[in-house]
Amino acid sequence: MIFTLIGFMGCGKSSIGKHIAGKLGCDFADSDILVEKGEGMTVTEIFSRYGETGFREIEYRYIDRTVRSYGDRAEGKKDGDGKAKNLIFALGGGAVTYEATATLIKERTFPVYIKCSPEELIANLKEDGTDGRPMLAGYDLEMRVKQLLSEREAAYGNCARLIVSPSGLEEAIVKGLSAIR
Ligand code: S3P
Repeated sequence: MIFTLIGFMGCGKSSIGKHIAGKLGCDFADSDILVEKGEGMTVTEIFSRYGETGFREIEYRYIDRTVRSYGDRAEGKKDGDGKAKNLIFALGGGAVTYEATATLIKERTFPVYIKCSPEELIANLKEDGTDGRPMLAGYDLEMRVKQLLSEREAAYGNCARLIVSPSGLEEAIVKGLSAIR
């Protein structure tokens, strides 16, 4: 089973997702890290070289590869201990704005939207800093978050099988896992 975590930058996909994966014994992956390792470039470098559209195509390829490798395991291949492996997969905040990615994760994974208010996101992003986030660099943070979130809200909502707050994610995943055991 693959739980894909979707939602705006700063909602906690990577930090909370990684923590919960450790606690529940699931594998964890982060699409930005896969892209950066695989391409040997930072997300910022990829954006400046190929633009947002180029980044989305690359991002799709890595998400697709990961989803397919876990899909195969779900269809029968189990790990050494005989248990099927579960993956919590944090996706970059704009991944579902690319149609091919949205279709893939709707069809082959269980997408969970971690929904936060713009105020929560702005506070988290102020703490994290916007370095390494080219969609925010050079903009007024508050205006940009509100604008991008309103453009993306429908894509997150349409993709999600479940919408949770950051504090509701663990319970949602526990329930999802018990449903398949
Ligand atoms: C992006 C979000 C980032 C990263 C890239 C683009 C976006 O991931 O994929 O900078 O368009 O929202 P995080 O959501 O992990 O910051």
